[in-house]
Amino acid sequence: MWLTNSSIGRKVIMSVTGLALILFLTFHGCMNVVALFSREGYNWVCEMLGANWYAVAATAGLGVLVLLHFVYAIILTLQNQKARGNSKYAVTDRPAKVEWASQNMFVLGLIVILGMGLHLYNFWAKMMLVELLHTQGAAAVYATDGYYWIEQTFSCPVYSVLYLVWLCALWFHLNHGFWSAFQTLGASGKIWLSRLQCIGLVYSTIVIAMFAAVVIKFQFAALFCGQACGAACAN
Ligand code: HEM
Repeated sequence: MWLTNSSIGRKVIMSVTGLALILFLTFHGCMNVVALFSREGYNWVCEMLGANWYAVAATAGLGVLVLLHFVYAIILTLQNQKARGNSKYAVTDRPAKVEWASQNMFVLGLIVILGMGLHLYNFWAKMMLVELLHTQGAAAVYATDGYYWIEQTFSCPVYSVLYLVWLCALWFHLNHGFWSAFQTLGASGKIWLSRLQCIGLVYSTIVIAMFAAVVIKFQFAALFCGQACGAACAN
């Protein structure tokens, strides 16, 4: 099939799944901003996204998107390396303005995936998974208290720094991925390319800033107002 067998088809899969993941991140970032203003509001959203059939279906869909994006990234990277053959060992003249992010998309993506593992352990495993497994006891009490988990996680400076590093990698990945996806899907010409690069830069900065604001606000609250107890560091 053209979509899976040809190089351009595989790139289309990467682009479409990447754009869908950017949409998810936009929603997730907006949801998290609520935590900056209201505990009740944030936990209400978390409850909506608990173990309901539509939330579980969305999580499964998200898992498929991440898997497709990751698997095709590996396939395309291996394919590119094979096409370059031994020339990767030769001294080659790089085009004057090749973005750093464009050269390191796979490594950036790996950091994003590793960070995602840590993040799912910190939040998803303590919330949706607890509900799905019908775990009883103290774990069940906090299964829809997303605000509590934010306080716990970002009262630990190690986690806060790790999240900020993760968010930096994600920013570079999004910044390049955004315009690159549109280019694969047919946006062409110098003018459109520079417009898309500009939109991508602004968009990814806003999305990442929404996440970073939560990390920074809760870490500062823990340091200076004594909120939460840093228990996440001890776990
Ligand atoms: C300050 C940063 C972040 C906070 C406070 C946060 C918070 C949360 C919370 C509370 C949940 C559990 C929702 C629930 O099960 O009801 C969650 C799930 C999740 N988060 Fe985050 N998140 C952050 C950043 C990110 C980033 C940057 C990504 C992606 C790169 C991400 C991807 C996910 C995914 C994939 C899930 C599972 C979604 C699902 O259950 O459908 N999160 N996050």
